[in-house]
Amino acid sequence: MGKSIAIFNQKGGVGKTTTNINLAACLAYKGKKVLMIDIDPQGNTTSGIGIRKRKLKLTLYDALIDSSMDVNKVILPTNTENLFLIPASVDLAGAEVELANLEGRERKLKRIIDEVKDQYDYILVDCPPSLGILTLNSLTAVDSVLIPIQCEFYALEGVSQLISTIEMVKKRLNPDLYIDGVILSMFDGRTNLSQAVVEDVRAFFGQAMYNTIIPRNVRLAEAPSYGVPIITYDPSAPGAKAYREFTKEFLAREKSRKGK
Ligand SMILES: Nc1ncnc2c1ncn2[C@@H]1O[C@H](COP(=O)(O)OP(=O)(O)O)[C@@H](O)[C@H]1O
Ligand SMILES: [Mg+2]
Repeated sequence: MGKSIAIFNQKGGVGKTTTNINLAACLAYKGKKVLMIDIDPQGNTTSGIGIRKRKLKLTLYDALIDSSMDVNKVILPTNTENLFLIPASVDLAGAEVELANLEGRERKLKRIIDEVKDQYDYILVDCPPSLGILTLNSLTAVDSVLIPIQCEFYALEGVSQLISTIEMVKKRLNPDLYIDGVILSMFDGRTNLSQAVVEDVRAFFGQAMYNTIIPRNVRLAEAPSYGVPIITYDPSAPGAKAYREFTKEFLAREKSRKGK
């Protein structure tokens, strides 16, 4: 059975999509079979991994709305071996409203993940920057949550709302949900501010924070425009090293969790 993880923070621009693509790609490079699910109407994971959104006939939207649809029909291969994608489309923006009237509206993504879980080692869900029905579907469907936090002045702003959302989902929809960890992103070693944010986040999250910190690296921002992950685009860039290191730490945590 594969493990499913939602990459979640209701703030935009904190590194969710970048972490989703690059963690997924590093896992795939290590021989894991990985499925990314893009549930953000902006579809940045979809375009960032080189899939042309306008040419798609079927997307996540179709499988969410039609519960009888074969999920394998919406899964696409990517330019990275072992890495697959359920793409997003702008239709997803309308799904917020359309799902509101369907029965079991919070469990539509769960149906999709459950159907293909045994085919993958990891399933990563790239959440939208909101707390709407799409995010609820994500948190209801997955085993755990990975929280990217940007090293900026307002880093911890919104975190209490983020935690209470996870608690609410745990109570009402997904009792076994847990936080995998917190990954700090866009660290700038030249500023005291970045350093201070690291300390604040560590004080707040303690052990949940990963030791690896993703630096600010322009190569990470460039890679999506070529439709490839950083380890393909520039394997020796600091951003590539950081995501490889993070993936190692991620897998070590997985191992020790299973050992318990
Ligand atoms: N470590 C990083 N260094 C430099 N730019 C980054 C880094 N991480 C993300 N970015 C860029 O910052 C922007 C927001 O990141 P993104 O991953 O899309 O965040 P989110 O999905 O949370 O909105 C994107 O343009 C992305 O390319
Ligand atoms: Mg995003």
